[in-house]
Amino acid sequence: MPRKSTATHTKRSTTSTEPYSELLAYREQFPILQRKIYLNSCSLGTLSLRGMAGMTRFQELWNEHGAQAWYELWMGELDALRRKFARLINAQPHEVAIAPSVSVALGEIASALEDDPASGKRDHVILADMDFPTLAYQWLARRRQGTRVTFVESPDRIRLPAELFGQHITHKTRLVATSHVFYLSGYVQDIGALAQMAHAQGALLLVDDYQGTGQIPLDVKALDLDFVVTGSLKWLLGGPGVSFIYAREELLPRLRPTMTGWWASRDQFQFKTEEFDYKEDARRLEAGTPPMAAIYAASAGLDIVLEVGVERIRARTRYLADDIVRRAQERGWALRSPADGGERSSIVMLAFERPEELVRALSARGIIVDSRPGLLRISPHFYNTLAENEAIVSALDELLAQR
Ligand SMILES: Cc1ncc(COP(=O)(O)O)c(C=O)c1O
Repeated sequence: MPRKSTATHTKRSTTSTEPYSELLAYREQFPILQRKIYLNSCSLGTLSLRGMAGMTRFQELWNEHGAQAWYELWMGELDALRRKFARLINAQPHEVAIAPSVSVALGEIASALEDDPASGKRDHVILADMDFPTLAYQWLARRRQGTRVTFVESPDRIRLPAELFGQHITHKTRLVATSHVFYLSGYVQDIGALAQMAHAQGALLLVDDYQGTGQIPLDVKALDLDFVVTGSLKWLLGGPGVSFIYAREELLPRLRPTMTGWWASRDQFQFKTEEFDYKEDARRLEAGTPPMAAIYAASAGLDIVLEVGVERIRARTRYLADDIVRRAQERGWALRSPADGGERSSIVMLAFERPEELVRALSARGIIVDSRPGLLRISPHFYNTLAENEAIVSALDELLAQR
């Protein structure tokens, strides 16, 4: 009978042969790791001591300065966050805007493109059937205004070769909008190839990088991307309430979103109710007052990711995810992610019947994972360990044996 798995496995030491095992010193930064085996960073990254300190700092400043904090401190904090995010993706700070969610960020871009004369008679938007629903909804909701939407189908519900997009992109395509990493399989799309194919037909590429940013390196310039939307609550360890938009510098003058507000106004603090023009930089895609408590948490998460470095995060998470895949294959479990770690991120999907029951039973043992219909989702971040992989796999052995 296998030993009962519990969260005490987190305390077991890991061997020094693990890549970047020095990063395990960061585990002290994340109190939940002392109590739980946390393998669900693709849903919600863990809260750090620095994140907690950031939110406390926000309260202290609010309490100390009241509204004065806006002008003297919080505007600076917002600028700093845009700069940090720009550094992470090799953008320029004036190409970055902050939004409260990816859905709102997409609404900004969609409303700007609708009104974009350069998009002319291009009425066609192309997505993947594996994309996260909110990405599709922006354009499905615009079908009434004449937008045509095509979903490129993944042949195996895991991968989607870039050439399949190529079959649909034409001179009528306004936008290709798809994920960098599929939330349903962890597959990493070749977004550089997609940018080339879109641009060859005069179309734009928007990348939903929510499942990539912070775990897979991203260089928007090298890949020649037009738009990126992403947020802080998953791999960026920053909690809910903060998302980011990257909009390529050359596109900015064209972008005139109808979904807008006073934070997009060039003369924001002149309060001219009867006149409106946009800021020149990407802040023209912002709308209203940002959630400052969340900004402090997001900033702390981003600091940790920048300090560790996404290259190191990728190397370590790939090693951990490869290990889970290997153990799953040894057991004959149905893998619904690419087996090859080169085309897979740190999201491992396993097909089981009634995965929600497994999620609940694992949770009762102090192991946190997630499910999607018919699939169990395991997503190690750089702070996880081989011992934690062992623990979840042996807990699953037991639970499946009881079925
Ligand atoms: C790939 C992807 N895009 C978008 C979202 C949703 O973003 P938001 O809730 O900020 O609109 C998620 C959330 O899980 C996601 O995984």
